[in-house]
Amino acid sequence: MEKFKVSGPTRLTGEIHLDGAKNACLPIFCASLLSSEELTVSNVPRLGDVQTLLALLRNLGVEIEVDFESKTCVLNGRGLNSNLVSYDLVKTMRASILTLGPLLARLGEVRVSLPGGCAIGQRPVDQHIKGLEKMGAEITLQEGYITAKANKLKGVRIVNDLVTVTGTENLMMAACLAEGHTVIENAAREPEIVDLARCLIAMGAKIQGVGTDIIRVEGVSQLHAASHQVIPDRIEAGTFICAIAACGGSVFVRNFEREIMGLTFEKLRSCGGEFLEVNGGLKVNFAKRPKAVSCQTAPYPGFATDMQAQLMAVNAVSDGVALIDESIFENRFMHVSEMQRMGADIKVKGRTAVVQGKKCLSAAKLMATDLRASAGLVLAALVADGESIVDRIYHLDRGYVNMDEKLAQLGADVLRIKG
Ligand code: UD1
Repeated sequence: MEKFKVSGPTRLTGEIHLDGAKNACLPIFCASLLSSEELTVSNVPRLGDVQTLLALLRNLGVEIEVDFESKTCVLNGRGLNSNLVSYDLVKTMRASILTLGPLLARLGEVRVSLPGGCAIGQRPVDQHIKGLEKMGAEITLQEGYITAKANKLKGVRIVNDLVTVTGTENLMMAACLAEGHTVIENAAREPEIVDLARCLIAMGAKIQGVGTDIIRVEGVSQLHAASHQVIPDRIEAGTFICAIAACGGSVFVRNFEREIMGLTFEKLRSCGGEFLEVNGGLKVNFAKRPKAVSCQTAPYPGFATDMQAQLMAVNAVSDGVALIDESIFENRFMHVSEMQRMGADIKVKGRTAVVQGKKCLSAAKLMATDLRASAGLVLAALVADGESIVDRIYHLDRGYVNMDEKLAQLGADVLRIKG
């Protein structure tokens, strides 16, 4: 199993280039299931999750040509010949549930494994199921599988009980080929949903209101060929900004887009430092210890739960005390015990962590538990004194392109080792 060997503390200087957004790329690839014509996607990140989804789509009969050098992928759903998404594929990546809506809309019948629990909490899919049932699907849950049938989905008004990202995406994709007008209320507003909608519109879908909490979709009989460029990864952007805040230094973040960051960017700015938006990116400079910044995770445009562990690492070495409330997932503090082993002063009560900043952390052997927790641990290791080992970095490779190389490019002492 691969690990990172990180020697700290370090200062970061230079330039990094953001890759395409994982959480936009995954639903966009699933959109290829809705059409029997070519979908050309550019700015595709070379990530574990992207490769897993490509394998899954190939298994369903989607023809795929991918070139990670040019970051381009061409998908063609004309040969779609299976409607079964097995547990073996879903268990490694929860986003596989994004095949449910498109497959049902295109084929009229689908069997997709339930994702089950995962490290950061229960993560049910009841909202996906409820919405599709409202659209006329007959759904049964048996032996860990969702079986959904509908000769033709019908446009209806759906009011989600809570804000769900992949739930909104599944329903929006299904509604593209439904008969009539679908309204999705209490929809999620994440920039990745907007990006998916742009791709669907390029394919001929009729969608309005995306980016607001009411999305309207007028069903069409088929979607056609299109090209789409994936937006930059705002979570990768935030992670590198946190790394600079924690370590100090001066970095140009190429491809940075302020408009897709929401409150997350305001919180990162509150850490101190200097931020200058220029053509093509963002200059970030931290000369002093970061300030403590409290946050409560919330759906977009609120502070992203996918940035909580990284901001925790910044707070662990900040000048002050911060309160971090995790309101989206019930078990997303697994990085805390590892950071405590590095000397961080963090106390957790329920869904709130109180972080008292310290001047320095000490190196340790660390175990990554999920994607964003691993990013938080790598950041803590960069700033800690001595040699840390971060184990199970396959979690990190699911969602960050060559994080070790990008950090090394900024002068960090990070090595990928085996064993
Ligand atoms: C997506 C992101 C993930 C991010 C999360 C929250 C992708 C591929 N993944 O995950 O990186 O951390 O949004 O921003 O885009 N819920 C239900 N019932 C449902 C659906 C969700 O109770 O049917 C709950 C979940 O348990 C969670 C909350 O709603 O507590 C938000 O989950 P959701 O937005 O669905 O997360 P994902 O789409 O899985």
